[in-house]
Amino acid sequence: MSGAGGITVRPPRPGDLAAVVGIEKGSFSDPWSEAFLSEELTNDVLRLCLVAESAGGVCGYIMAWRVADQLHVLNIAVAPGRRRQGVGSDLLREACLRAWAEGMTEVTLEVRRGNSEARRFYRHRGLQETGVRPGYYGDNGEDALIMTGPLEGLLEPRR
Ligand SMILES: CC(C)(COP(=O)(O)OP(=O)(O)OC[C@H]1O[C@@H](n2cnc3c(N)ncnc32)[C@H](O)[C@@H]1OP(=O)(O)O)[C@@H](O)C(=O)NCCC(=O)NCCS
Repeated sequence: MSGAGGITVRPPRPGDLAAVVGIEKGSFSDPWSEAFLSEELTNDVLRLCLVAESAGGVCGYIMAWRVADQLHVLNIAVAPGRRRQGVGSDLLREACLRAWAEGMTEVTLEVRRGNSEARRFYRHRGLQETGVRPGYYGDNGEDALIMTGPLEGLLEPRR
């Protein structure tokens, strides 16, 4: 999919790993290892993964699992210098379009309680906080909030 602003959202290729590792390290206090990212950077019966590419290379990614009728987003990140330009929205929307085409109806994910930017991003896209996993994150014992919403609400481009 080619979105506004010269962004293409596409399935990953093996050569994308280094860029993904760099974005992960620049985005999370407790980044996934290269080995773990390499495992998730694929599409198979369980995994739905996409990267966003601009003229400068890969600038974001989304990694999700197909869990019955739910798309479970495990990881989404955009390079710090490319945020608030619609890349995250393009990634989430394209993943939801693909999941919808496969018959899934809901999107769900966990987000750190302290990650106010991501919580706002999801809320503004129709997800609601539907539960808490106390002390979920091993690095600092932070709670995870479970956010869930209908896939259908994420299929249209945002204005
Ligand atoms: C959460 C994250 C993926 C969002 O990615 P993003 O590319 O910044 O997302 P978007 O640009 O599509 O949207 C972000 C905001 O910028 C706004 N925006 C988009 N294009 C814009 C533009 N051209 N000018 C100004 N604002 C813009 C959007 O409206 C949105 O605002 P809202 O959240 O209040 O609705 C990103 O912040 C990130 O990588 N965070 C670090 C990793 C992380 O925490 N991931 C979530 C784990 S659960």
